[in-house]
Amino acid sequence: MEAGEGPIGRVAVIGTGVIGASWAALFLARGLEVVATDPAAGAEARLTDYIRHAWPTLEEIGLAEAADPSRIAFVATPEEAVAGADFVQENGPERLDVKQDLYVRLDAATSPDVVIASSSSGLKPSDIQARCRRPERVLVGHPFNPPHLIPLVEVVGGERTSEAAIATAMAFYAGLGKHPIRIRKELIGHVANRLQVALFREAYHLVDIGAVTVAEVDAAISHGPGLRWALLGPVMLNHLSGGAGGLRHALDHLGPFKETTWADLGRPSLDEALKSKLVAGLDEALASLDYPAVVAARDRLIVELLKAKAESALP
Ligand SMILES: NC(=O)c1ccc[n+]([C@@H]2O[C@H](COP(=O)([O-])OP(=O)(O)OC[C@H]3O[C@@H](n4cnc5c(N)ncnc54)[C@H](O)[C@@H]3O)[C@@H](O)[C@H]2O)c1
Repeated sequence: MEAGEGPIGRVAVIGTGVIGASWAALFLARGLEVVATDPAAGAEARLTDYIRHAWPTLEEIGLAEAADPSRIAFVATPEEAVAGADFVQENGPERLDVKQDLYVRLDAATSPDVVIASSSSGLKPSDIQARCRRPERVLVGHPFNPPHLIPLVEVVGGERTSEAAIATAMAFYAGLGKHPIRIRKELIGHVANRLQVALFREAYHLVDIGAVTVAEVDAAISHGPGLRWALLGPVMLNHLSGGAGGLRHALDHLGPFKETTWADLGRPSLDEALKSKLVAGLDEALASLDYPAVVAARDRLIVELLKAKAESALP
């Protein structure tokens, strides 16, 4: 049988830290049954707690008919978790040696037709699948924190991943209401994190040279282009800024400015001095804020934004 044939009703969640717990909450909210495992002391209680806290938000987003936060079992080993699973989402530590050992076990115990997806932020699927006997069903399904709120999932195959497994993962995530994109090359940091890191580099550089404070560089995004970036991607926004001439005009008109600026961008190193400068700047920015209220507002506004986007003409 090809990887991923048949409906997905039960998902194994391997590792229930920051990312695994959030995936588990999402799977339950989408009406799936979850079997989870994590070797850390107290992991089961933390997972239950996480799901309880996330549930009201998931209710607000909209639950599937079969959604039930108690349709979860916590088991002692990865082997028990994957037995009978129709899809495996792995969220163990971001270390290749740990992942490779874990994948030998997952691969041996998971039904051969079932896809095993790693949440890995930076490891290449070719390396993760290297010691598997059925590597064709192993891939990366990289979410953004927290996966129960942020729609993007980056799907990346390794050298030995089958097209069938990629198609199954893409369809599975889309069916959950996620927004999967397929990435056709194995890259450090996949795509979205590379984009973020490019921005972090310049933000840190601008603080480093004293052009702006931490609060000001953050405002330059959150009160500026960041408002548009939640709605449309950078190339579509270029098109809008080109007026009647669209993207072609924007590239011709402002392309030289972009190239001059690229050549001028900073290359900071994250040494102790820069780290301390960033932390001190952040502490200053936080001093006038009610931090728990800021976090709560961020989560509430993300939900409102997701709802508003779903009802709009945006892609
Ligand atoms: N934190 C993020 O923002 C983020 C975002 C996207 C993807 N990821 C990826 O998700 C994965 C998990 O990251 P995290 O931030 O949740 O880390 P985390 O440290 O919060 O969770 C990792 C969990 O794995 C457990 N674990 C350790 N050994 C294990 C094993 N052999 N089998 C099963 N579980 C094991 C640990 O006890 C821990 O609970 C990583 O690959 C990371 O790159 C993280």
